[in-house]
Amino acid sequence: MEGETQVSGAKNAALPLLAASLLAEGEHTFRNVPDLLDVATMLKVLRTMGCHADRLPGGERRLCKVQVSIVTPEAPYELVKTMRASVLVLGPLVARHGRARVSLPGGCAIGARPIDQHLKGLRALGAEIEITGGYVEARAKRLRGTTIAFDLITVTGTENLMMAATLAEGRTLLENAAREPEVEELARVLNKMGARISGAGSDRISIEGVADLHPVDHSILPDRIEAGTLLVAAAITGGNVLVRGAQPQHLDAVIQKLRQAGCEITSETNGLRCKGPTVIQSADVQTTEYPGFPTDMQAQLMVLMSIANGTAVISENIFENRFMHVPELDRMGADITIQGNSAVVKGVKRLSGAPVMATDLRASASLILAGLRADGRTDIHRVYHLDRGYEHLEKKLRPLGANIRRIKEK
Ligand code: EPZ
Repeated sequence: MEGETQVSGAKNAALPLLAASLLAEGEHTFRNVPDLLDVATMLKVLRTMGCHADRLPGGERRLCKVQVSIVTPEAPYELVKTMRASVLVLGPLVARHGRARVSLPGGCAIGARPIDQHLKGLRALGAEIEITGGYVEARAKRLRGTTIAFDLITVTGTENLMMAATLAEGRTLLENAAREPEVEELARVLNKMGARISGAGSDRISIEGVADLHPVDHSILPDRIEAGTLLVAAAITGGNVLVRGAQPQHLDAVIQKLRQAGCEITSETNGLRCKGPTVIQSADVQTTEYPGFPTDMQAQLMVLMSIANGTAVISENIFENRFMHVPELDRMGADITIQGNSAVVKGVKRLSGAPVMATDLRASASLILAGLRADGRTDIHRVYHLDRGYEHLEKKLRPLGANIRRIKEK
């Protein structure tokens, strides 16, 4: 893989930002919005509530406008079951509209993923919460600021409560908060809307409640996970690729691992360059919360280790069921054994192409990376998982030399 490619806007920033628009009446403008299935679902959720929420046609496809006026504060099961991040409307609805009826997300392929911390926090802010018929029913005249200590670090939990607290009476302190760049981006945008948030990016966030917020015009930061995936594409093919828009400060742990594997990673004015080594060295990985190694890069790194010189142990500490890609990689000739929450990856000389099945978003990216390196042809089924979080990935890989195309499932 040789050449340059451009990172799109971040999915995990776009989703909470679109939900945050519910906090202020008027027209919001979001730029650099990735063209993804999950973003389309969030726009649908907003439209279901009575907002005008659309992507502009033609060349301006990365621009979204959200017009918020009268809102029916309800997110139906049909939509929430397809994208659990829809739960991010809960905080804004209770805070601004005094009530919300949001379907419980239920489990997903990578884990049970409960939202107990979201509900615990909303109750602490004074909301009455009931679970009936698979829905969260929440009510509050006006939320009241307080101190909330998360029992565990949760990204969307931090985002939901940070949004809710912006319109609460008094000050809220979030302790043991998530530090992800997407949380910081959300705080940045809420402050542009008139909120008073400090400490985002650290594990202690303070929010001074205000009476109301105003609409915003904002361009979304680049997707660090897509950038990481493209860097691994260069590494696994021994290529030389510049990933434009990749921000080194958001990819520290990933860059360290790629360097340990023998890659040459350099910062350039407009992005990150990866030169892949002829021989990849094995490196152990532990997934943890930011700024540690992201769980959303675990599957992609595992593929790299599957053809490394040596054995790597990859431990997944965030989700209890995020090794669904292992049996598929083994079908391609990898030698990976699962022991509890770790995968022992014995590097093999080569992978061979095979028909494989995508099971979740990042697993599907890992199968594409394996296909780029494997001998022969790999057919990846159920790529709708991929389209949830990658913007036309095959169209980004082809100009770099990948022989990849989308074919209709029979
Ligand atoms: C966000 O999910 C991301 N999604 C995920 O990205 C990412 O994997 C995850 O954070 C971790 O980095 C979005 O931002 C839309 P968590 P989130 O709450 O917020 C447990 C991708 O591939 N937990 O930080 O849902 C939970 O089960 C996706 O783009 C509770 O027990 O993750 C998990 O084990 C996948 N109770 C752990 O905490 C709660 O109330 C971390 O989950 C909340 C979470």
